[in-house]
Amino acid sequence: MERFFSTAPGRVNLLGEHVDYNQGIVLPAAVNRYVKIHARRLNEPRVILYAMDFSQQVEFLLSLEALEAREDPYGNPLPSWALYPGGVAWVLLKAGYPVAGIEATYTSDVPVGAGLSSSAAVEVAFATLWNVIGGWALRPMDLARLCQQAENKYVGVNCGLMDQFASVHGIAGHALCFDVRDLTYEAVPLPANVMLVIADSGVRRSLATSAYNERRLACEEAVERLKPHLPGIQALRDVSVDDFIRLAHLLPEVVRRRAQHVVEEIARVEAAVKALKQGDVALFGRYMKEGHRSLRDLYEVSTPELDFLVEFALNQPGCWGARLTGAGFGGCTVNLVQREWVEPFVRNLKEAYQRETGRMAEVYVCLASAGASAHRIE
Ligand code: GLA
Repeated sequence: MERFFSTAPGRVNLLGEHVDYNQGIVLPAAVNRYVKIHARRLNEPRVILYAMDFSQQVEFLLSLEALEAREDPYGNPLPSWALYPGGVAWVLLKAGYPVAGIEATYTSDVPVGAGLSSSAAVEVAFATLWNVIGGWALRPMDLARLCQQAENKYVGVNCGLMDQFASVHGIAGHALCFDVRDLTYEAVPLPANVMLVIADSGVRRSLATSAYNERRLACEEAVERLKPHLPGIQALRDVSVDDFIRLAHLLPEVVRRRAQHVVEEIARVEAAVKALKQGDVALFGRYMKEGHRSLRDLYEVSTPELDFLVEFALNQPGCWGARLTGAGFGGCTVNLVQREWVEPFVRNLKEAYQRETGRMAEVYVCLASAGASAHRIE
């Protein structure tokens, strides 16, 4: 019986937040926290899946009808965690790929709901697995886009392409400067003596999905209102900082703040990538700090806990930059910390966070890592 192994990492975003769905530029890195799947090929169109982390098993049939019903073969609704593999199977079948039946177990050490793209990692791990079993040789960018469609159209979260892109394309030791408009990217080396320290605030804001969708709508509204004055624009990516300053008064107050974040954040990523390429980590860190303030004050997706973690971190020796990472509304901060300072940094941050909030912060010291892969075992 043919056996396969597949793995896909979570990601951290260093800069370029809430710009992917505005056709902007983002700077994520895949990190060394992974979804791992062991699978055995079945000779029938059926998936039997055991999620080790939840001690739960589900079964679903590989037909569009069964998947669209979101039910197992016995008429029970699929649990929410099964919607990710189910969505990937659905999107692949819809695109005409004959998805193989499997019996599989999977586990993940990407923290869930923390802004490190645990769901993208699950989607990418399954898509990579089916791609290898089927011998389809899908192009990596197509694979990422199919996974995004699974999330948009099956799971029902209207995310951009950044997370799935990063989980597929990660390169060890590098951040990926990804242009979401033309789908090109460049790997930018991270300084070898700097670690990615990720601190989980432990806060998960309910209604995060609807707040995320609201932010998207505000960006679309800004484009509609600016269009008569900037003919031909398709997205906030097309609005320069100068145009924005000239036309901002035409936007309602809240929409203006959201659009200002996006326009400035895209310019910030461009400037920060230049700094990183020149080895100027200090300047890069200042852009991270500005990015956080903009997410806090203009985009309004931070929380008091994330703000505390960032401000405290910025006063610690060896910390070059800190900001919230991912969609916000709780979740994690990312900190660039000089290797020799990591230990005291982590200790001090945890202590201070507990003193301030009464909560424990999980802290993950990560490295930028390679993207998803799968292979046949033996
Ligand atoms: C989530 C989404 C991404 C992106 C970020 C914010 O992680 O999945 O597509 O929009 O939020 O930058």
